[in-house]
Amino acid sequence: MFYTSYIMAITNSKEQFEDKKLDITLRPQSFNDYIGQEKTKRNLKILIEAAQKRKESIEHVLLYGPAGLGKTTLSHIIAKELGVGIKITSGPAIERVGDLGSILTNLQDGDILFIDEIHRLNKLIEEVLYPAMEDYKLDIIVGKGPSARTLQLDLPKFTLIGATTRLGSISNPLRNRFGAIHRLEFYSPEEIKKIIKRSSTILGIPINEKGSEIIASCSRQTPRIANRILKRVRDLAQIQDKEIICDSVAKETLQMLEVDHVGLEPTDRIIMKTIIEKFDGGPVGIGTIAAATSEEIQTIEDVYEPYLIQLGFLVRTPRGRMITERGLHHLGYAPKKIDL
Ligand code: ADE
Repeated sequence: MFYTSYIMAITNSKEQFEDKKLDITLRPQSFNDYIGQEKTKRNLKILIEAAQKRKESIEHVLLYGPAGLGKTTLSHIIAKELGVGIKITSGPAIERVGDLGSILTNLQDGDILFIDEIHRLNKLIEEVLYPAMEDYKLDIIVGKGPSARTLQLDLPKFTLIGATTRLGSISNPLRNRFGAIHRLEFYSPEEIKKIIKRSSTILGIPINEKGSEIIASCSRQTPRIANRILKRVRDLAQIQDKEIICDSVAKETLQMLEVDHVGLEPTDRIIMKTIIEKFDGGPVGIGTIAAATSEEIQTIEDVYEPYLIQLGFLVRTPRGRMITERGLHHLGYAPKKIDL
């Protein structure tokens, strides 16, 4: 049981306090320190410079893409470059219209409001957000019944940065109110290696080339996972009194975590094996996969599936998910026979 929760901590986890603190330490503070996402960085720099020249606040920005690729980190960097404050919240945390009202009225001109998981905002709140984004106005209803009146408050000229793993779940009216929409991409192995080297320098333990290569290959092209694995490798290196992270300690940690050489962990393998063994490789609906694996649909869709699709092990079809030949081969299954 202990082992399972330890494994869970790599891809899908609520982090321990110490890990969270370390993550903040590892987070790059400027565009110069931020490795990867070159296209998005270039566009954001232009947005910032142009707005600064015009002495205006920047337009609202929507960042989307798989979890752990740096949406929050980029937002902190934007705030830092602009020299403005940033308030961090999330779609599910804003439960009532009043919650949003108090957040918005407490911002200063130019400040950034970062809403993570913005696709989970409730509809009523979304509608209050439209005039706030467009005209910096907040409509509030005072009183009840026939005597109810609408009051309009002026808001500071803030910038909304929305983040989501699901662009398709954002309503058109909300999406249309963002001036810049950027997709964050999975990182290349070289970029992940650079991030691992940078992080190990900050953590104060050197790493050799092979060690960083091994960790990079199992990091699902995702910095958050690379840093989590690096921290676990560092733990083992320190317990073994090693002064450098080498390939052997990296390999040993990954074996303990049951992470394979492309970064699949037990839950990925359970999902794939379930589709192969119970549903003949698919196509099978996501609800059925969730029921058969005791995982939530959203967890499969947001946490596990994007990387399996990226690897070409799984495809989404109109009739459901299917394991590919490549996926079968990775798990050691024979290729699927084609009925003639
Ligand atoms: N740590 C986490 N993400 C990073 C990135 N993109 N660049 C540098 N360090 C990071």
